[in-house]
This record gives sequence, structure tokens and C-alpha cells, in this order.
Amino acid sequence: MVQLITSTAGLDPHAYEDANIFNIHRSHDKSISFGQGPHYCIGVTLVRSQTEVMLKELFSRFPDLSLSGRMDYDYNHHNARRMTMLEVETNLN
Ligand code: HEM
Repeated sequence: MVQLITSTAGLDPHAYEDANIFNIHRSHDKSISFGQGPHYCIGVTLVRSQTEVMLKELFSRFPDLSLSGRMDYDYNHHNARRMTMLEVETNLN
């Protein structure tokens, strides 16, 4: 069996400039996070709309939300990069 680790493709320095830097404005045209071709993820539209609803709700409650530093990843999963900690400041008065 051959298993491709697609999550690392998003960190390919030949495909993305400063691939390790989080950049929300980066074009994801080359992304293969949802696969490609005949087995392209059937849940992609659901996931994208759920994420849009979630982020809109989050920023409507915390409009000044910002990263506050600590961000930890669990690199031990076989094919996914899981975040175990993401510290944020709500900046609520
Ligand atoms: C962020 C969430 C998700 C990611 C990153 C993701 C990623 C992927 C990837 C990479 C594939 C291609 C696998 C391959 O080529 O062998 C795939 C296929 C698939 N995904 Fe997702 N998926 C997500 C969510 C979902 C959801 C919510 C559903 C269902 C509601 C779903 C249903 C499927 C199905 C049925 C396939 C197989 C399609 C086929 O073989 O024709 N996925 N997904």
C-alpha cells in the first residue's frame, strides 16, 4: 500500500512562497487538501459552508480576536497535522 501524506503538500516551498508562514491571503488553487480527480472529496461544500458559518459567528462574537502566541501541533498522527493548542486574545473590554 502507498499512502500519500497530502497535508505536507501545503508546505511545499516549490509551490508556496514562505510555505511555513500562516497567510490567510494565500491562493489555494494548488491545494490538494480535498484530493483531486475522480475521488475528490464529496463533503467539500459542506465543510466549506460550515467553516464559513463558524468563522462568521466567531468573529461576530469576538470582532477583535487575535493570536496571542502559543500554537502547538500534534505531529504524531499518521496523515493529519492536528492543532492541540491555539492561544487567542478576545480583546473584550
Ligand atoms: C476538512 C474536512 C475534510 C477533508 C480535509 C477531507 C479530505 C478528503 C480527501 C483528501 C479525499 C480524497 C481521498 C482520496 O483521494 O482517496 C476525500 C474524499 C472523500 N470525502 Fe472528504 N474531507 C473532509 C470532509 C468530508 C465530509 C464532511 C464528508 C461527508 C459529509 C466527506 C466525504 C468524503 C467522501 C465520501 C470521499 C470519497 C470520494 C470518492 O472516493 O469518490 N469528506 N476527502
